[in-house]
Amino acid sequence: MYNPPTVPEASTPVPEPRVVPREQIARARVLVVGDVMLDRYWFGDVNRISPEAPVPVVHVQKQEDRLGGAANVARNAAALGAQAGLLCVVGHDEPGERIVQLLGDSGVTPYLERDPALLTTIKLRVLSRQQQLLRVDFENTPAHEVLLSGLARFDALLPQHDVILMSDYAKGGLTHVTRMIANARAAGRPVLVDPKGDDWERYRGATVITPNRAELREVIGQWKSEEDLHARVAKLRADLELDALLLTRSEEGMTLFAAEGILHASAVAREVYDVSGAGDTVIATLAAMLGAGLSLVEAVSLANRAAGIVVGKLGTATVDYDELFH
Ligand SMILES: Nc1ncnc2c1ncn2[C@@H]1O[C@H](COP(=O)(O)OP(=O)(O)OP(=O)(O)O)[C@@H](O)[C@H]1O
Ligand SMILES: [Mg+2]
Repeated sequence: MYNPPTVPEASTPVPEPRVVPREQIARARVLVVGDVMLDRYWFGDVNRISPEAPVPVVHVQKQEDRLGGAANVARNAAALGAQAGLLCVVGHDEPGERIVQLLGDSGVTPYLERDPALLTTIKLRVLSRQQQLLRVDFENTPAHEVLLSGLARFDALLPQHDVILMSDYAKGGLTHVTRMIANARAAGRPVLVDPKGDDWERYRGATVITPNRAELREVIGQWKSEEDLHARVAKLRADLELDALLLTRSEEGMTLFAAEGILHASAVAREVYDVSGAGDTVIATLAAMLGAGLSLVEAVSLANRAAGIVVGKLGTATVDYDELFH
């Protein structure tokens, strides 16, 4: 049965997005800061059980690599046609090199801090006949000195960027996020944050924070009604001096809590194939559009349209200019 999109009570629908000229987006300079990772997939056949232990033996025939975390966010901003830079820490290893190569292919300018003692975060999946058999993660926390030099680099990069985007995956790359936010705001730059964990004091003073439902629940508790949600978010915004909060609500779309009021964008997906990474597309679109000079409400409207497109795609988790404005 078809259910018409609903707008939660006491919120206004966001207006329909307008077409933004390509050249206007091309002027937007977005700096993404955060934790990068490499998503690696090994595909192969299983024909026997190992003589060493009761586990399948996979004969690997194909490898695929994709940018993950902050690198996927930066790639999304570049795909829309914005200028995207990425400040992050990687190790001196093969996955680190692969990330550099993939960033180059995506048109993202890398500003990498190298930590020789760091294992670049990589998530390796072993698949056979579309079945995931195992996931293996390599990661550790960047060294103190490397993070401090990243902070100095951040300050140097600030003047050349219009919007700052913090993509937190709790791997340590954003240890100095509070200082970075304060410095960016002092320089008059808006800061967007995709949060992780329950300590949001670190994001104090951000312009917009973009949690999903589970992430917000971890911080404000379970809300009993839409009205209760509005009250809890108002208190959080005041406590942490956040200009706005954009709650992404999966199939329910997204709700913006801001000085402009409470605005809701219903989900617009025609087909839903792959929802992973939709949050990355949302915040990247928001940043590109704010960088292009759009209002926050206009940017949200386009971010919602971009999310509706990306969930309908398998694999490539980006939306380009033509797809967004066709
Ligand atoms: N099942 C769905 N149907 C329609 N739209 C969806 C669906 N899931 C996600 N979306 C769109 O994508 C947006 C972001 O999704 P969601 O709230 O799940 O973010 P997220 O949990 O941060 O995603 P992720 O962390 O996997 O990238 C939603 O606000 C909505 O516009
Ligand atoms: Mg997310």
